This record gives sequence, C-alpha cells and structure tokens, in this order.
Amino acid sequence: MGVNVKQLAAEKAVEYVMDGMKVGLGTGSTAYWAIAKLGERVREGLQVTCVATSRASEEQARGLGIPLVGFGEIGSLDLTIDGADELDGKLQLIKGGGGALLREKIVAANSTRMIVVADESKAVHTLGKFPLPVEIVPFAWEWTVAELAKLGGVPQLRRSGEELYLTDNGNYIADCHFEVITSAPELALALQAIPGVVEHGLFIGIASLAIIGRNDGTIDILE
Ligand code: A5P
Repeated sequence: MGVNVKQLAAEKAVEYVMDGMKVGLGTGSTAYWAIAKLGERVREGLQVTCVATSRASEEQARGLGIPLVGFGEIGSLDLTIDGADELDGKLQLIKGGGGALLREKIVAANSTRMIVVADESKAVHTLGKFPLPVEIVPFAWEWTVAELAKLGGVPQLRRSGEELYLTDNGNYIADCHFEVITSAPELALALQAIPGVVEHGLFIGIASLAIIGRNDGTIDILE
C-alpha cells in the first residue's frame, strides 16, 4: 500500500498543537486527517478548545470527543490547520473546493497562525488552474455571475446533482475558471468590490506555513 501523503502532512501539522491552544479545524480530505490525529492526542490528555469550519468537520470532531465551541465564544485562535486546493510559493492559496471557504477564511484570518496541509499535487507555480470558488448570495445571482465573468474567468454555478449547491451559509458558489491568475491580490480586490459576492477562495497573507506531503513519503515545509 502506498503512503497516504495527505495523512502524512496533516499529522505533521498536529505536532504544532500545544496544550491549552485554541485551534481552528479545517475542512476537506486532508484536514480530516488532522482532526483524526488531534482526536488521538485529546484522548491521550491534550487540552484544546476548537472551532470547526464546517458541519462535516464539526461532526467528525464531536465524534472524537474534541472540545468544540462556537467562534463567538472565543473570538480569536492560536492555530488553524486546513487544506488547500492550490498553493503557490508565496503561500497564496485557492480554497473552497469543499464549499467551506467563508467559515474557513473567518477562522484562519482570526488565527495567530494558519498551517496549510496538502499533498504535492496542490503546490503550483501560478494559481488558477483550479477553478476559484466564489460564494455569492442567491439574490440576483444572475447579475453577480455576469459581473464575475467581466474579470476574465468563466464562472460556473456549482451544482449538487440536479440542484444548485448550497453552502453551510445558504449561499451559492460560482466556480470561476481562470486557468492563470496573474495577480491574486488584484483579483481579490476586484472580487470584493462586486455586490453579491460574500467571499472568495483566495487566501492571501493568511497562511504562514505549508506542510506538503510528497509521494516519496517525505515532507516539505514552506514558510
Ligand atoms: C474546503 O472548502 C476547501 O477549502 C478545502 O480545504 C480544500 O478544498 C482542500 O480539500 P482537500 O484536502 O479535500 O483537497
């Protein structure tokens, strides 16, 4: 059986969790392994207080006995561990493939440190091959999508079977196909300026460390 590189990276990140920390729990198939490992450490006596970024992560953490609180109860966090759909050498990320970008960004932006965990396929030279998820309100979505198209990407409303996909916050996601994002900060500003956009999946200046699992079983750490 080959190495599970997502698990490798995620478990390494959990070594950064210290007793007494307030920890943000990410979402997705890589963050899953971080939550699983944290559950083990909690069983062994580690004291932490955690905030989950999605219903799925909340359920997983609850099942493992990890102490959870609402974000409003603690406000700021020491560390968030989360996955990414793409990351570049400046630790700029695309997130939201799992639809949890809004809560993920609130939690990560309010953490002293965010560690990104990923397998090597996520590390890219230039962001954009992965369609950029943009969370938009259902009201006037047709107009918002048309405005998004003016930014040069091709937006496609995310579906879940026959239905439009709904986020944990009751919004839609437009996946914007850019192929190449030449300036993530400029695009972020342009996206924020569109009424109807709740949040976008570009995380800039938020992550401070990336732990990348390689297929040969080694780990790269970027900071
Ligand atoms: C969830 O909304 C996303 O931001 C995930 O963190 C991202 O999609 C990475 O997920 P995987 O670890 O499953 O690839």
